[in-house]
Amino acid sequence: MNRVLTGIQSSGAPHLGNVLGAMLPAIELSKKNKSFLFIADLHSLTTIKNKDLLFKNTLETAAAWMACGLDTKKNILYRQSDIPQVTELMWYLNCVTPYPMLANAHSFKDKSEKLSDVNAGLFTYPVLMAADIILYNANIVPVGKDQVQHLEITRDIANKFNNIYGETFIIPQAKLKKDNMIIPGTDGQKMSKSYGNTIDVFEDEKRLKKQIMGIVTDSKGLEDPKDPDECNIFQIYKLLASEAQVAELKLRYIKGGYGYGHAKTELYHLLLEKFKEPRQNFNKLISNPKIIEKELKKGAEQANKVANDVLEKVKSNLGLM
Ligand code: ADP
Ligand code: TRP
Repeated sequence: MNRVLTGIQSSGAPHLGNVLGAMLPAIELSKKNKSFLFIADLHSLTTIKNKDLLFKNTLETAAAWMACGLDTKKNILYRQSDIPQVTELMWYLNCVTPYPMLANAHSFKDKSEKLSDVNAGLFTYPVLMAADIILYNANIVPVGKDQVQHLEITRDIANKFNNIYGETFIIPQAKLKKDNMIIPGTDGQKMSKSYGNTIDVFEDEKRLKKQIMGIVTDSKGLEDPKDPDECNIFQIYKLLASEAQVAELKLRYIKGGYGYGHAKTELYHLLLEKFKEPRQNFNKLISNPKIIEKELKKGAEQANKVANDVLEKVKSNLGLM
């Protein structure tokens, strides 16, 4: 049986891109394979320097996983920092990681150009990620395209360790998401927190509506026929609607007499309908964070057992015990 593992940074309640692109596919996989899903709060420390925000983001990220239907009886949902063994393993891995490999990582180069705070955590980020994965004997890691190089680094580090110290780690594989689906944001670019173009599916109705009403369109008037393939509203609608609904909206666009305002309202109602249950679950969980904490604690207890077994083997192979 495969062991699937993936992490998501604690950067707040996920947006539609995170939900459709990362969470729902991971939840689908978790139905067939025992999965380890964790909130990468230690990685988030590289960029978030506000304790209340980090704590709130972690709870919201966990609530979103649970609200979207992750079965926590069968799978393990935990907070990365609850298993401090991961930082211990990171040190051992640091000592076999070649410096140039980290210096050449795209994501480090990218971040060090954009961010004013270029800290050592950003530099060693991939080593912590390698530790996240091999500490739990994971062999399948679903990630987005942007994380593929980090998986290559993980494999290199694990192989190097195995070559020096003997077979210790399972070598994991990245699993790219089906169709490599990129969900467009309200301005047509990739939806991303860093572009401020998100649709925050767990937001209250007023703010959600405002985001949808802000979707950028061309300036065609109500009566004009419109091209659905060129329209951001239609592109997002298509991701959620049934075939019949898509066909119907397409006809309205082509015929004319149907404005972008109408299409936005249609999309808003569809979103509310599709996410009715997850939104209700999310709000219930957020107003009762003890339930979330309890789940995270249970997850940490299970993850802890696996981590201890692997770490014991590592320490023995290193000559530390
Ligand atoms: P953001 O770009 O908003 O900061 P993250 O980089 O934290 O999002 O992404 C978390 C997960 O969600 C990753 O697995 C990533 O591949 C996925 N994801 C983020 N945005 C999108 C998108 N627009 N379409 C598809 N998947 C996405
Ligand atoms: N770096 C990943 C991201 O930003 C999050 C992450 C941390 C992760 N550790 C991981 C993903 C281990 C997969 C496996 O999306």
